[in-house]
Amino acid sequence: MMDYTLRQHGRATLDFLTAFGPSVGPLMKKQQASLDVAGLNDDTLAEDLDERAKQIEGILENLSAFRSANLLGEWHAEHHARLAEGAFSEIKDALAPQFEELSKGSTTLTPNPDLDIPQYWRYPIHRTTGGWDGHRHMGFIHGELVHRYIVGKAAKPPAAGGAPTDIYTDRRTFAEQAPRRDYNHVFEIGCSSGPYTLKLSEVFPDAKISACDISIAQLEQAQRNGNIAGHSWTLFQADGRDTGLDDESCDLFTSYIILHELPVDVIEATLREGFRTLASGGDFLFGDVAPYSALDKTAAWRTDYMARFGGEPYWRGSSTMDMIGLMEDVGFIDVRYEGMAPNNYPWVTYGRKP
Ligand SMILES: C[S@@+](CC[C@H](N)C(=O)[O-])C[C@H]1O[C@@H](n2cnc3c(N)ncnc32)[C@H](O)[C@@H]1O
Repeated sequence: MMDYTLRQHGRATLDFLTAFGPSVGPLMKKQQASLDVAGLNDDTLAEDLDERAKQIEGILENLSAFRSANLLGEWHAEHHARLAEGAFSEIKDALAPQFEELSKGSTTLTPNPDLDIPQYWRYPIHRTTGGWDGHRHMGFIHGELVHRYIVGKAAKPPAAGGAPTDIYTDRRTFAEQAPRRDYNHVFEIGCSSGPYTLKLSEVFPDAKISACDISIAQLEQAQRNGNIAGHSWTLFQADGRDTGLDDESCDLFTSYIILHELPVDVIEATLREGFRTLASGGDFLFGDVAPYSALDKTAAWRTDYMARFGGEPYWRGSSTMDMIGLMEDVGFIDVRYEGMAPNNYPWVTYGRKP
């Protein structure tokens, strides 16, 4: 982890943002109570998502708990990145020597200034100002301040009967789902600032680890994290659909929470790239959120509502597509598409190349 101390104003702002999560929970409970009174449940709600949205939102639209939760969500989505940028600007001069130092080391980064940046990627996912590269130092701002400080610090209650967990332990537990420990080359797409890459290194200490992302700002932060931990990752800027890797050159092709941020045609092309680059017997392992079919109808509506208004334009497509059919069509065998106990998160998409 990088060594930095927030200034008072930035710290107070980030703590304020962190407090939003717990304040929404009770509002959600009130919403559910209204839906229960109205008799809206799996038996009475429509299969069609848009019809269902009309049924539910028709009941909730005048409820203050719905309006307040939406207001909080809207304000957070619109302002979190801007405020995190402000917290960063207070410490950027102090960080400059570390940025310089950590760009050297055994983790290397190869930028590709000629990369054809896809249009879908330019959409500011999570409504983050300007998107993944929206600030010269969005890698630090998102990876450290938004992801580690705000999201990572937010309380994550253990699921019933489960052990307490956090967003980093989830990544490790997911990496452990891979059926082997003897991979030669583990390749990750969409590594962002490297939180899953760190866990891959823990679980596969003897493997060569390489990773790509489209965002150069995120990759720079991943390089810093790799060098702090003394890893020798090979990072490069590339689209996961066209990695430039040789055929059959890796034996684990993996990613964590990228699928719901990709349009369906991009998912298909990524699966095909995985199949091409995996050696025979190699494993494809992607972790993400549960598809709508695994949720009750109200939970699926809530997720879809959050996606529609929270800056996730591809979530519905990826959560309703026929992933098993696609994996098999691409050529994978032993396909698994299932949630991890105890609460279906992460959702595992697994297949083996024959
Ligand atoms: C939610 S983040 C992934 C986070 C990371 N894997 C983790 O464990 O937190 C999504 C990342 O995928 C990257 N991305 C999106 N489309 C991509 C593509 N076609 N190829 C490579 N990276 C992509 C984005 O730039 C972003 O950094």
